[in-house]
Amino acid sequence: MILPIYVFGQPVLREEAQDITPDYPNLKELIANMFETMDRADGVGLAAPQIGLPIRVVVVDLDVLADDMPEFKGFRRAYINPHILEAGDNLVAMEEGCLSLPGIHESVKRPDRIHVQYLDEEMKPHDEWVEGYLARVMQHEFDHLDGVMFIDHLSALRKQMIRGKLNSMVKGKARCSYKVKTVK
Ligand code: NI
Repeated sequence: MILPIYVFGQPVLREEAQDITPDYPNLKELIANMFETMDRADGVGLAAPQIGLPIRVVVVDLDVLADDMPEFKGFRRAYINPHILEAGDNLVAMEEGCLSLPGIHESVKRPDRIHVQYLDEEMKPHDEWVEGYLARVMQHEFDHLDGVMFIDHLSALRKQMIRGKLNSMVKGKARCSYKVKTVK
């Protein structure tokens, strides 16, 4: 089932999401719906707060990038209760966008490697260092679970430049090709 994507201005996007327990109801179905919603919107990642749920669940699909990055062939994963424990010192800049911020693309500096803990879809625990593009996507998505959006990492000047677009979103004017849920 395709769910509407919550857009900037929705309070749930600013909440601290909570870890879930293994008996969380209909988790498989929720994850399937998140994948379907992300696919429809042409995203590479989607966090549960973006569909209105303040829980620590994220889906990532890097298979769509496999033409350019063959290492991601077939890469479609869910991350449950993910947490970033530490990050490398080296920062790299890359342009980011977000399904909850339609029409905004900005360069964001982030550490190039991170140490993460999470459960996979089978509730199996993982503890690993991740680098490169996946580390970038994970940081963006896991930020959502802490109520953080990529625009929070921008300079005051860049924030000023996108203020008009943000104000429009809060007023319910989000231009995109997928179903959204704005505040108004
Ligand atoms: Ni996002």
